[in-house]
Amino acid sequence: MVKMPPDVQETINKQKPIPVATADSDGKPNVVFITFLKVVDDETIYIADNFLNKTRANLDENPRVSIVTYDSENKKSFQVKGRVEIMTDGPVYEEVVAWVHAKSKAMPVKSAVVIRVEEVYNAMHGPDAGKRIV
Ligand SMILES: Cc1cc2nc3c(=O)[nH]c(=O)nc-3n(C[C@H](O)[C@H](O)[C@H](O)COP(=O)(O)O)c2cc1C
Repeated sequence: MVKMPPDVQETINKQKPIPVATADSDGKPNVVFITFLKVVDDETIYIADNFLNKTRANLDENPRVSIVTYDSENKKSFQVKGRVEIMTDGPVYEEVVAWVHAKSKAMPVKSAVVIRVEEVYNAMHGPDAGKRIV
């Protein structure tokens, strides 16, 4: 795992929704918009699985994600890649249920998707485009 620098965390937490990409075991890609995505600590991101379908199937086969985020005000963009663990009960799942239900009681929470961050890249255009940050 790696530690996301503060500007990466801020950029993620500022942007909603965030595109989340997965792939099945053959490498077929899929991308969805996710609003319930937040940084929990330097190394961890939560996603609330309210409606995930192909995304969830992909994660069961291939537990890896990539997200991309952009802050137009501060002119920053990052790609974050990580490994995923799916929780359907226990304290982390209950934490995610409480987070979602604080915003909308009617929203289903099928699971909590816990991303352990492994790589962060600069995705802003310019000379550092694509360079690994951590
Ligand atoms: C603006 C927007 C925000 C969304 N936020 C979430 C979310 O926080 N959690 C979720 O499970 N699905 C969310 N969705 C639904 C997913 O984008 C997508 O429709 C769902 O995962 C089914 O697609 P899939 O079969 O590719 O997984 C959102 C959709 C939109 C358009």
